[in-house]
Amino acid sequence: MKVLLNRGRLRGVKNSLYIVFLGAPGAGKGTQAARVAQELKLAHIATGDLFRQALEQGTDLAMKAKSYVEKGVLVPDEITIRMVLERISAPDCEKGVIFDGFPRNLKQAQALDKALAKEGKAVEKVVYIKVSVEELLNRLSGRWICRQCQTPYHTVNSPPRVWGKCDKCGGELYQRPDDTVETVKKRLEVYFTETASLIDYYTQAGKLLEIDGEGSVDEVARRIVPILSGLAGSLSTRGRDGYNY
Ligand code: AP5
Ligand code: MG
Repeated sequence: MKVLLNRGRLRGVKNSLYIVFLGAPGAGKGTQAARVAQELKLAHIATGDLFRQALEQGTDLAMKAKSYVEKGVLVPDEITIRMVLERISAPDCEKGVIFDGFPRNLKQAQALDKALAKEGKAVEKVVYIKVSVEELLNRLSGRWICRQCQTPYHTVNSPPRVWGKCDKCGGELYQRPDDTVETVKKRLEVYFTETASLIDYYTQAGKLLEIDGEGSVDEVARRIVPILSGLAGSLSTRGRDGYNY
């Protein structure tokens, strides 16, 4: 891997692709990021999912993150950044990552930039999914997710084939405890005060791709996937290893 990276750097070629999905709670980050990760064969890192899995398993991380996730506020940066940097060093992240829900403030964005820069890498694009607050509330109030694989469903917009069971893995579906009216209000407030500033950060870096997130899941996917596939394809033809398009 090191050899490949160095060879790529010498030729000015990128060997991996890092994409961030940004948007308010309920914008559809998880739904679209999962599709893109599958399409581009990249790892999908959803920090909210990592925290929820830790809570299910009762790990040390869960003890540290529990009260923050329950209140709908950000888990402290040192915990979140360490968790993500550890995760991206895993072998399945070598060809790149779709980040979903990370970074969520300037400190996290700078930590990610710094860690990637050390390896001669960088975030390539940031997909900002824009959705009205009315639609966000509608989506969150009807959401059910799989306890096992975290796939999101919606009572009206994307119901499972068999009620209560995940189409993908058969896992039990449940409603997230932080999808209550009060906690959603808090999460939206946190998004607008702490995360939305990243729109400017990535616009200034020339990386922001604003996507209209309204419409069906398929319609939104059609606005995102071809652009990112093109990006992955062009990197591939410039010398990336391991992709089959
Ligand atoms: P996290 O799990 O990331 O929650 P979030 O950002 O609030 O976003 P959601 O997962 O609620 O929404 P989404 O955009 O993924 O939408 P989805 O695709 O599910 O974070 C939870 C908590 O963890 C945070 O509050 C915090 O405590 C902690 N945390 C996480 N990351 C952190 C970080 N970096 N730093 C610190 N703390 C962190 O879609 C929503 C619903 O809409 C679903 O039902 C779906 O089926 C439906 N839907 C999707 N697309 C469409 C469409 N086009 N049309 C109709 N319905 C749709
Ligand atoms: Mg999500």
